[in-house]
Amino acid sequence: MADIKTIGVLTSGGDAPGMNAAIRAVVRTGAAAGVRVIGIKRGFTGLLDKEFVDMDPERVSEIMELGGTILYTARCSKFLEAEYQQMAADNLAQSGIDGLVVIGGDGSYRGAKCLADLGVHVVGVPGTIDFDIGSTDYTIGFDTAVNTAVSAIDKITDTSTSHERCSIIEVMGRNVGYIALWCHIANGADGILIPEKDEFDEQALIDSILNNRRKGRKHHIIINAEGVGRSNRLAKRIEAATGIETRATILGYIQRGGTPTAKDRVYASTMGAYAVDLLLRGEEHRVVAYKDGKFMDFDLGEAITMKKSIEEYQFLLRGLEGRESAGRA
Ligand code: F6P
Repeated sequence: MADIKTIGVLTSGGDAPGMNAAIRAVVRTGAAAGVRVIGIKRGFTGLLDKEFVDMDPERVSEIMELGGTILYTARCSKFLEAEYQQMAADNLAQSGIDGLVVIGGDGSYRGAKCLADLGVHVVGVPGTIDFDIGSTDYTIGFDTAVNTAVSAIDKITDTSTSHERCSIIEVMGRNVGYIALWCHIANGADGILIPEKDEFDEQALIDSILNNRRKGRKHHIIINAEGVGRSNRLAKRIEAATGIETRATILGYIQRGGTPTAKDRVYASTMGAYAVDLLLRGEEHRVVAYKDGKFMDFDLGEAITMKKSIEEYQFLLRGLEGRESAGRA
């Protein structure tokens, strides 16, 4: 066992439902091992400003079901500069924090790596709705975000059907299309645009909308990833080419909030506990991951270089598009 007496925990980057479950697990696993846990507010910004708060098991009661992060979060541009990275490492040392759990996405992992290079014992926990961390098949928040988006798209489909319209629905994901792909399949959408596939054939989509309309389809749902964007322009082009009223909806931040699903609570709790166990075992510069059906960990530097991509088989699924307008006149 390493001689870890105090662990810091922070959440960084875009918040993700389930982050609170991870914080709770860090605090409670630490407390169970007799370790003091300090919450660092507002991610790396709070590390620079020494916004430290003592956490105990009671303090994290009844937070599992809360969306967001009780520690707040931030995107800290200063942290790209060596001077501030050193200041953060010094603040940790001065406050007696021997180990740090960083819950966040790829940008947060890069920040964690800078601290690791300065000798800080860091463990990363993957927290992002975007799902774009190469080292893991699970990221905190993705499941909840997809479920939120799927349910919103169901609602949009209702009104789209009543008005016999086409709907372009833009979902989050920064430069990747995982949320879009899952919504495409789960909502039986008619088309999908993601940044990973720039060979999108707009004429083929228009032809298929017209063909489906001829066959009696009452609505047409197109999922557009944020990384492709320009949903309003696409809606105008589709309306002009098909003559079908077309509206764009950008789902936006609704996807980042809300009570986490059971999956996000369970996986985030497991990963938070795992991160503390790694630090207590004297491991450093690691990230927690879920791969091939197992919780595991990787070297932080290696994890940052790991890539993942859209599952081609799922992207190419054909014949699942569209829902019939059952029960309507
Ligand atoms: O990384 C999560 C995410 O919601 C992305 O999907 C989106 O591009 C980005 O964060 C938005 O960031 P911000 O909250 O800074 O506007």
